[in-house]
Amino acid sequence: MTTVLVTGGAGFIGSAVCRHLIHTERYRVVNLDKLTYAGSLASLRDIEGHPNYVFHRADICDTKSVRRILVAERVDRIMHLAAESHVDRSIDGPMAFVNTNVVGTVSLLAAAVDHWRNLGDDARMGFRFHHVSTDEVFGDLPFDSGVFTEETPYKPSSPYSASKAASDHFVRAWHETYRLPVVISNCSNNYGPFHFPEKLIPLIITSALDERPLPVYGRGANVRDWLYVEDHARALEAVMSKGREGESYNIGGRAERTNLEVVRTICALLDAKRPRKGGGSYTDLITFVADRPGHDRRYAIDPAKSERELGWCPHETFETGLARTVDWFLDNGWWWKPIREQLFDGTRLGLLSVG
Ligand code: NAD
Ligand code: DAU
Repeated sequence: MTTVLVTGGAGFIGSAVCRHLIHTERYRVVNLDKLTYAGSLASLRDIEGHPNYVFHRADICDTKSVRRILVAERVDRIMHLAAESHVDRSIDGPMAFVNTNVVGTVSLLAAAVDHWRNLGDDARMGFRFHHVSTDEVFGDLPFDSGVFTEETPYKPSSPYSASKAASDHFVRAWHETYRLPVVISNCSNNYGPFHFPEKLIPLIITSALDERPLPVYGRGANVRDWLYVEDHARALEAVMSKGREGESYNIGGRAERTNLEVVRTICALLDAKRPRKGGGSYTDLITFVADRPGHDRRYAIDPAKSERELGWCPHETFETGLARTVDWFLDNGWWWKPIREQLFDGTRLGLLSVG
């Protein structure tokens, strides 16, 4: 059985990856997470007692502790998801993004190289450092043309995407310089269960259920390319197990939507599933607010290489995935209500400019 260290396994995508890997019964999963505001062990209730699952609270910046865990747990592969992930927070406080996403990734690479060099021949051959990254490294696309391929040059716009771009470059440098067997994936916007309600889709669902305004930046014309998180988790397993060393893979669901379309679709689903007590549609709560500074107009992924080489394709369309997501939030207030009450009440983030 292959032992996989998942960093950031208590986050939105990391917890989906841990659940997925355990359910395949092919992996032992070591979850390493610092448990920042975005990490929650409640997202892992499904697997917490499983004999092939173990959790370590640790910081990826702490190379010594990470090295100890890699050796003690006899780790065969690493899937690196730990990060500061929210663009608006990166506008308010970029240093946390540099520390975790850049310095943390380099610290983890240092620990990984040490561990990899000390493995036996077979284990060294099979080792992978899979770096999980984002399509935001490619920057801003015009509304009417272009898609991101693996050859698209990097042109990040936000402190978040700049920090992710830097981390991608360091991972490639560790491959070229130290021959560490790496693979990189760049994915589009995810949505689904256990999504922290600072991000558009869970923010809109939970704010609507709380009868709060639904903030749409600018005129809601910006386009994102959406992928259901469990489809991403399957793609990540494919990249980690079948991806060619030194290569990168774009992952996306060919599901471009404007933000206003997304918000209106959520409102329509809620109107049908949980009509407002006072009557009227949830669309009445839509409020246009000041735009995000440096707001990329459009992201669009060409996932042809992942489909061709990894045999991966999404199971959910945007419509089926969004309906499942709305159902999940309707049924799982135990997970998101304490977060909205104690950690994040929906306050607007990312309006400050950095001095
Ligand atoms: P998230 O914010 O939900 O979770 C991040 C996790 O990392 C949390 O559990 C947090 O506690 C942990 N973490 C943060 N700093 C850490 C540190 N120093 N040491 C150890 N753990 C730490 O993020 P997410 O949305 O699940 O994203 C996961 C990864 O996928 C990120 O690398 C992100 O850049 C990438 N990504 C996200 C999306 C998306 O739409 N959410 C799309 C493409 C790529
Ligand atoms: O593309 C992949 C990226 O997707 C990931 O790398 C990031 O980690 C993830 O957070 C996400 O980034 P975005 O900035 O695209 O996601 P967010 O949910 O913050 O915003 C989605 C779109 O909705 C974006 O155009 C901004 C807009 N928006 C967002 C919020 C929070 C609103 O209109 N209103 C809002 O309140």
